[in-house]
Amino acid sequence: MRIDRYLGVTGCCTRTEAKKIIRAGGVTVNGVTVKSSDTKLDPDTDKVVFCGSPVTYRKYTYILMNKPEGVVSATEDGKDRTVIDLLPADMRKTDLFPCGRLDKNTLGLMLITDNGELAHRLLAPKSHVSKVYRYKSKFPMSEDDAKRFENGLTLEDGYETKPAKIKLDDDGMGGEIVLVEGKYHQIKRMLEALDNKITYLERISFGPLMLDTELKRGEWRYLTEEEIKELEAHK
Ligand code: URA
Repeated sequence: MRIDRYLGVTGCCTRTEAKKIIRAGGVTVNGVTVKSSDTKLDPDTDKVVFCGSPVTYRKYTYILMNKPEGVVSATEDGKDRTVIDLLPADMRKTDLFPCGRLDKNTLGLMLITDNGELAHRLLAPKSHVSKVYRYKSKFPMSEDDAKRFENGLTLEDGYETKPAKIKLDDDGMGGEIVLVEGKYHQIKRMLEALDNKITYLERISFGPLMLDTELKRGEWRYLTEEEIKELEAHK
């Protein structure tokens, strides 16, 4: 693997930044300063030091994005910008894809990875990974509505939702919802089944991952080692 790609996938820096840092002598492989960004290395055996710190190689890339409104959760789209389009150009050519879907106007936590097996496991209906959303509704929701929501509702296509959790704000105009499944437009359709309407929806957690409030809308960062361990261990 090329050293600039290696530095990109391990989350040290982007490939564009790697070129500059290599030119400045900031990277060594097995103790020897790298001169050129097309230098090849074996990620499993070679020891890389980046700006004085040893680098741990990971086969997969994991990204936490704060999805803004107006972009779609897809790798490409003929019409709209995608979450992948928000990444630097050199990362768009990799195998990264969004793990699950948020609607175009839903905000918040989006996991992006190239680990297909992990994504498949987390998204499988039998996994029941919890997803927490902040929402606002057009009309206030009563305690009675909340009970119906929690017991499971029948959507317009006849689908019976699994029991979900809802915590209402004092004014009933919003709150937090916890789902363990992810049907198309699920929360919007659940509120419609209660003759209400979602006016704001933001995902604040996905399994063990929490939305990083330091990230502005559209910003992203690599997962930490701790977050990766929790995600991989998540059943
Ligand atoms: N439910 C929805 O209706 N939309 C989302 O984006 C996520 C959950």
